[in-house]
Amino acid sequence: GKPFMHKLLTFAGDEVTGVEGLPKGLALMSDRPGYKYIYGKVPAAGEYKYTVMLNGGRKVEVGFTVSKDLAQPTPFMGVLTWNAFQSHISSDIIKAIADGFDTFGLKAAGYDHMCIDDEWAKHDRSADGRLQWGPKFQDYEDLVRYVHSKGLKIGTYSDAGSYTCSGAQPGSYGYEDVDAEDFVKWDFDLLKYDFCNSIGGDTPEDAEKAYTAMGTALDKAMSKAGKKPSDFKLYMCEWGGRQPWLWAANTGATCWRCTADTRDYWDDPAYRGGVKQVLDVMKKIWAYQGVNRWNDADMLIVGLHGTGYPSNAGGAGHKPGLNYEESLTNFGLWCMFASPLTLSNNITNLDGKPNDLTGKTVVNKDYATDLAIITNQEVIALDQDPLGQAGEPIYDTKDYIVMQKDMADGHPALSVTNLSDLGRNIRVKLGDLTALKAGKTYKMRDLWNHCFLTTGKKVNKYTTNDEFVIWVPAHATYLYRFL
Ligand code: GLA
Repeated sequence: GKPFMHKLLTFAGDEVTGVEGLPKGLALMSDRPGYKYIYGKVPAAGEYKYTVMLNGGRKVEVGFTVSKDLAQPTPFMGVLTWNAFQSHISSDIIKAIADGFDTFGLKAAGYDHMCIDDEWAKHDRSADGRLQWGPKFQDYEDLVRYVHSKGLKIGTYSDAGSYTCSGAQPGSYGYEDVDAEDFVKWDFDLLKYDFCNSIGGDTPEDAEKAYTAMGTALDKAMSKAGKKPSDFKLYMCEWGGRQPWLWAANTGATCWRCTADTRDYWDDPAYRGGVKQVLDVMKKIWAYQGVNRWNDADMLIVGLHGTGYPSNAGGAGHKPGLNYEESLTNFGLWCMFASPLTLSNNITNLDGKPNDLTGKTVVNKDYATDLAIITNQEVIALDQDPLGQAGEPIYDTKDYIVMQKDMADGHPALSVTNLSDLGRNIRVKLGDLTALKAGKTYKMRDLWNHCFLTTGKKVNKYTTNDEFVIWVPAHATYLYRFL
């Protein structure tokens, strides 16, 4: 009963000539230049297939599931401990972060996953081959209960190799069944599953096998415990090198990292973790996005202001920390990508008071603007849209990028990003936004400022015959909806 959209992008020379076997409610649409797409609503739950026909007689079979029990119908939102806390985690600190969700209105804004990253376990397994909680997590049962009592879900972390990326704790390769059993027994809701120190091989096929082993083990463990497998999320963290967007959905994962670890910089050529470098990857894989299959752009950087640990590596001689405009781009584009939204700043200090939970004393004097960005409901709504489409580049030059995003209610979004180091005018011909309908009249809503574009007191009316010129500061992203 929810709208479904599948854009049939083809490689040069290929052409979609038709679709066979479409279930009732779906149709092949040809009203956009550039590609055809499947669109509609399937009334009944079930497993479906259709066949896309290409010129030259080739066929591609597409399988999809219609269900109210999907693990990740919209990209998950929450906190990951890695950038701000790294090894400085303990039960007490996780509880304090869980409190921060409430205190600063993050829970009300939609963030509901408290995810523990690397370094929670002891370096070695127990004599009977089990992962063991580290000394700072001895009251882990109480911790999990506490996080759940706040109405939050709780995530844990492991690795599909011999050891995790920090080397601090064992990986789960070869131990998938016992570890999945423990994660479920301990009542976790999500597993971030990394790919360091892989011992089962490095090819995409090897990775698919290793992740499938964990996906299958988790399903089995959930069923055995009398729980719905879809109540557990497997979050793949293979970093994108093996193009997980092509195969990761087969493993049981419902979101997958597509990029190197994000760093606290606009530009980070060395580690490819700057906002610019993440954009370079994400802008090419938008067509692989869909409901329950999310391309993850990695942790948000907004709010760190150079106070993190691993996030400070890189930056080609620049000081770490995003400025205000760059923070708009970090958050705004992640929402356009429909990436999971994982805050990686310390959310216990969003009151401007000194705070030493991360192992160093930090004052976040920008807390008010940070909070306004990360809790902006009109921007978060782009990310959480049930149609599951990612932003699709309309103009892509070295100085700016403009994207459109299809939305479930038929009112598309537009992002305008200035990549250059100087403020500039960016011109958008609305006729180039293929998601807009010719002949229709639209109002344009500014999502950062919560207002319609006006001339004097009059709300402007736009059609696809109009142009729109906007001055955008260096490195900023402006966001709009067409209503
Ligand atoms: C890798 C991942 C990070 C983080 C660290 C932990 O680098 O990509 O997100 O989980 O490992 O060691």
